[in-house]
Amino acid sequence: MLEGVLVDLVPYGSRFTEQDHRWENNESVFWSGAGERNFVSKAQIEAEHKRRSESTQRRTGMSFGVLTKDGTPIGHFGYNWISAHNRFADLGASIGEPAYWGGGYGTDALLLLIDYSFRMLDLRKVWLSTTTLNARVLRQMEKVGFKQEGLLRQTALMDGVWADEPIYGMFCEEWPGYTVMVERLGLAAKAKTNADSV
Ligand SMILES: CC(C)(COP(=O)(O)OP(=O)(O)OC[C@H]1O[C@@H](n2cnc3c(N)ncnc32)[C@H](O)[C@@H]1OP(=O)(O)O)[C@@H](O)C(=O)NCCC(=O)NCCS
Repeated sequence: MLEGVLVDLVPYGSRFTEQDHRWENNESVFWSGAGERNFVSKAQIEAEHKRRSESTQRRTGMSFGVLTKDGTPIGHFGYNWISAHNRFADLGASIGEPAYWGGGYGTDALLLLIDYSFRMLDLRKVWLSTTTLNARVLRQMEKVGFKQEGLLRQTALMDGVWADEPIYGMFCEEWPGYTVMVERLGLAAKAKTNADSV
């Protein structure tokens, strides 16, 4: 378990997969899936879990569940793709419960994931992409210290509007460490004021 101030990252077990049907069909997919609006059945989700668990293909990704301090499962963060040879990872992030957006939970989860990537996996670089309409992620990239490294033009169709996809990266030597970032962003103070308000 990776222990944060607002959330913990834990194995993506049944208490999370039970939420998948809601999370795969709500507004969070529109943002994490760059404009997708899914209608996915429980049977499709179960079939996908079965396919993955039985697959003999080498896995290059990994998901953590995001758990609040009171034990509520609220989303998943992890790796879409880890390249061991190149020592980089493409990160994926989604707080599936919209009620928890904007409260710092996703940022605490991201800090934990970055810290794990550099300190435990010994990666050289992490990166992620989003869309220019995703204001929460754009702000998050700025405050966490990612640098924009590229821009895919008009690759996301979001409710009829073509949006660009910026790509953000961070090198290991640019990472000040989890504790420094928690202090810098005031997340510990947020933990106290948000504890009873969600
Ligand atoms: C993106 C996500 C992980 C961010 O986590 P979070 O816990 O919401 O992030 P935070 O609350 O720490 O920070 C969001 C920032 O955006 C700001 N923000 C919140 N709502 C906003 C809005 N509607 N417009 C502009 N900025 C907004 C917040 O004020 C905050 O900035 P601040 O710390 O300077 O006040 C989470 O919102 C999420 O999972 N969203 C849905 C799926 C998604 O977008 N996934 C990412 C795909 S790349």
